[in-house]
Order: sequence, then C-alpha cells, then structure tokens
Amino acid sequence: MIGAQWGDEGKGKITDLLSKSADVVVRYQGGVNAGHTVVVQGQTFKLHLIPSGILYPDTECIIGCGTVIDPQVLIEELDQLEKLGISTRNLLISQTAHVTMPYHRMIDRASEERRGNHKIGTTGRGIGPTYADKSERTGIRILDLMDPDALRKQLNWTINYKNVILEKLYNLPPLDAEETIEHYLKYADRLRPHVVDTSLKIYDAIQRRRNILFEGAQGTLLDLDHGTYPYVTSSNPVAGGACVGTGVGPTMIDRVIGVAKAYTTRVGEGPFPTELHGEVGELLCDRGAEFGTTTGRKRRCGWFDAVIGRYAVRINGLDCLAITKLDVLDEMEEIQVCVAYEIDGQNCQDFPSSSRIFARCKPIYKTVPGWKQSTAECRKLEDLPKQALDYLKFLAELMEVPIAIVSLGASRDQTIIVEDPIHGPKRALLHADGTPVAV
Ligand code: IMP
Repeated sequence: MIGAQWGDEGKGKITDLLSKSADVVVRYQGGVNAGHTVVVQGQTFKLHLIPSGILYPDTECIIGCGTVIDPQVLIEELDQLEKLGISTRNLLISQTAHVTMPYHRMIDRASEERRGNHKIGTTGRGIGPTYADKSERTGIRILDLMDPDALRKQLNWTINYKNVILEKLYNLPPLDAEETIEHYLKYADRLRPHVVDTSLKIYDAIQRRRNILFEGAQGTLLDLDHGTYPYVTSSNPVAGGACVGTGVGPTMIDRVIGVAKAYTTRVGEGPFPTELHGEVGELLCDRGAEFGTTTGRKRRCGWFDAVIGRYAVRINGLDCLAITKLDVLDEMEEIQVCVAYEIDGQNCQDFPSSSRIFARCKPIYKTVPGWKQSTAECRKLEDLPKQALDYLKFLAELMEVPIAIVSLGASRDQTIIVEDPIHGPKRALLHADGTPVAV
C-alpha cells in the first residue's frame, strides 16, 4: 500500500483496515518524518515508526532495513502503546536499518536554515542526513547499536568527525561523544528483544502463505528518484521501494494498492499546480483538519490532480485505489479536477520529470457538480449521492484504475469497501462505469 500523492493521503486508516486481513505489516522506508493517525474506539494513536498493525494483537509488525530509526522516538512510541495496554511484543526491527543520531537532526535543521529561499521544508527529524550517511557508508546500523564495543569505537570516530562539521560549518556546539554513546547503549538495551533478521522472517511468512502488507510512508511525489526532486524525502516510498527496503523479491508481491485523497495536499516547499490559496483552500484545510501529524504544520491544499494520479498508477503499477476524505468535499457547490497541464501553451498529459518545468505547469480543469450533503454516514456505494458516485467514477476513469475503498471519515466504520482489495479478484473492483466486474 503506497501513497499516490505527496504523503498524508490517509494511509494510516487504510493500513489499519487492511491490517485486519494481514498477518504481517511491514514498514520499508522513511523514518520518524512519517506520522500516522489512527482512531480506534474513540482513542487517537499517533505513530511515526511502528506500523499501525500493532493495534491488532496477533499481527506481526516489522520495521524493515530501508527505514531509518530514531531509537529515542521509537522507544517513546513503545512506551505510549504499552501504557495504553497495547502489547508491543510482536514488533520486529531490522538489524540492518540505519540509526538516526543527534547530529543528523542538528545537521538537518542547520542545513535547512542555510538554504534560505532554497529550503526543502523538511520535517527536521534528521532523515536526509541519516540516508546521506548510509550512502556515504558512514552510517550506524541497528546491528552496530547491538554491539557495545563496536558502537563505542564507531561512534567515537564518527562524533569527532561530525563535530568538525557542526562547529566549523554550522557554528553549533559539539556533541559529547561519551554522553551520546551512553544514551545509545541504553536505547540498545531497550530495543534488543525486537531486533532480528527481518528479511528472513518475511521470507518465512511468505513460505507459510501468510498475508503480508507492505506499508509505504510519505508518497509517490516525495520519492527520491521519482518525485518532485529536490523537494522530496530521501527514501523510496514507491512500490518498488518495498523490495529493496525489506529484502523481498518483486515476484513475491501480489498486488499494489494506492491511497489518494479526494483532493490534494502537500507539506513543505515545492511546486503544486492545483494549490488553492483562497477561501476554497481554507475550507479544505478546515474540513480536512490538514495539519501535519509530525510537525503540526498547516498543509497546502488543492484540487485533485489526475496527471499526478496517472503517474502514480504507472510508477507503482497500481492495481486499485483507496480514495480517502471524500466527505471533506461534502459542502462544495462544484468541484474541479485537473485533467491535464498547460505548459507554455502546450497541452501536457504526462507528469514532467523536471521540477522547473513542473513549476510552470498550469492545471486544465474539468468542473463537476458537488453534492452538498453529508456522506459521513454512507456505508455502501448506493448510499452515496449521485454526484459523489459520479465523482468517484470520473476519478477511476481518469486514472484508468478501479477504486476498491472509499473513506468518509476518520473512524474504522466510515468506510465503503467496494471490494476486498486483498482477497477480492484482481482488478475486479469499481470500474469507471460503476459496476464491480469479476474477471
Ligand atoms: P524530510 O523527509 O523530513 O527530509 O522532508 C522532505 C520533504 O518531505 C518535506 O517537504 C516534508 O514536508 C516532506 N515529508 C516528509 N515526511 C512526510 C510525511 O509523512 N507526510 C508529508 N510530507 C512529508
């Protein structure tokens, strides 16, 4: 399951729904920049690293090797769950995931400040610098954390090296190596029972024909290789990232589900063709409670962009879609959908690779009527007002992919399951003509 836009598509709720049919839920990229809000029986859970499958007592949850782990935040999450009576014994952590260190967070924030007008608008959680060290081959991995002697040696060297950068480049105070090592050794003790070879665990689960859900964080357009570079995150949220970020071969993945909001949001900097600055944007923000789970930042809001949608279908090989937050559009007189872009007088159907060109794209809209009534209580497609159903069919038609799930609110029951996306027949979901067709 992946995000088909710029993240924050409401994946937390969809993961939570799909987790019911999953034996194992796996995170494969990103770190504590992600934030999933899940509401269960009136209780709100905010999770950054732990897959929301943890809320089901028998579901195994795995944090794969493609993630970056901030142990301090992970331990806070474990404590929060345990305090609420939710067992975390089913959480497994990859030995080869990289560890976010205090210098990563410091460098992330300081380098953003340095960029001035060119800033990316990161979450400031040290994500980019952790992945940079991984590529540079100076990273600390979970298995280093588990080996006190190796950790001491490696951190002594690395902290000395990073202190030069902190002091000379960013004018920041140096870190105390001994103090940092002591903190991380404590974190190691707390995490040790959860650390295993997760690739082996997943392979074993596949052999036993278990259902495994790979849960993408962020979204397609924040992908380091396929997103709106440089305004992206430093990992691969696309479906292909699930293989690299877990050690699972591509032939072992059966289907790919994309999650998209019924409109679009983006946090941080970078071009956003359908962004709305006036009253309508404010309305979407208010009705959709569009504030970041991790940073509390107000999200930028705009109309649904089908060019991006089609791109997400292609890059991820989507089998079907979950459309979330349809209810946020309930009060709209009319709704606009971006069907193509205009660049320098030319009609463009495909997402451009260059952010400079993307910034010049003007949306070509098709206007459709709103439904001006609440959909929050709808539980079947037939319960939806005609205009709302037409809107969904239009999206399915534009993206050439069927819709499996429609979400109409934060809680588990505010959902229309058109067809079970895990057990249902592949590509037999809500087609553009509105009929579920068996293949
Ligand atoms: P970073 O991942 O903190 O380096 O931030 C890079 C970009 O990705 C910024 O524009 C962030 O706002 C965005 N970003 C990172 N994580 C999320 C997320 O979970 N949801 C939405 N945007 C995110």
